[in-house]
Amino acid sequence: MLRVGVLVSGGGTNLQSIIDHVESGKITGVSLEVVLSNNAGAYALERARKHGIPAVCVSPKDYPDREAFNDALLETLEAYHLDLIVLAGFLVVIPKKMVERYPNQIINIHPSLIPSFCGTGYYGLKVHEAALARGVKVSGATVHYVDAGTDTGPIILQKAVEVKDGDTPEILQRRIMEEAEWQILPQAIQLIADERKKASEAENR
Ligand code: GAR
Repeated sequence: MLRVGVLVSGGGTNLQSIIDHVESGKITGVSLEVVLSNNAGAYALERARKHGIPAVCVSPKDYPDREAFNDALLETLEAYHLDLIVLAGFLVVIPKKMVERYPNQIINIHPSLIPSFCGTGYYGLKVHEAALARGVKVSGATVHYVDAGTDTGPIILQKAVEVKDGDTPEILQRRIMEEAEWQILPQAIQLIADERKKASEAENR
């Protein structure tokens, strides 16, 4: 079993898609060990609780400075012995220490076709506002590994989505979630679970 932790800041529709894929058996070999948020009010935590997944909050508000928060975040995650950390709308800059502790073990979903509309300042609706302002006809979503930069790690999966006349950022965001994000994030987790399984079978041979 690939032990997965999901980090969230908001509504958690991507988390819900992962839960649904695991519960329905559409993805296999994956166990959801913890959902962690920086925001105690995140509805995503409620979604986790409803499905019996431990839901924890580590908020920067509870720590004197960023370093103390970063240490608490890392310490909390360590307790779950995770193989993979999934950033599903986690709007916190991942501390360097955490990237070093989990090399190629952290993935992120970003709501555009990287390298367009990504990097510092591009998150949530801002991404779709920028895409519409530029007038692109196609946008989409990307799942990538997390490295020390912002949205710069190796790309795992991408899916394109049409931009339509009259789209608002909200309408485009929803279409990209429905047609791309909710599919490629569980698919990427499955790919990684399959790779790990193959690697451990090869080791045991
Ligand atoms: C998603 O659209 C995700 O791609 C985006 O935040 C949203 C979270 O929605 N992430 C980023 O912008 C990261 N840079 P959700 O809480 O409903 O899954």
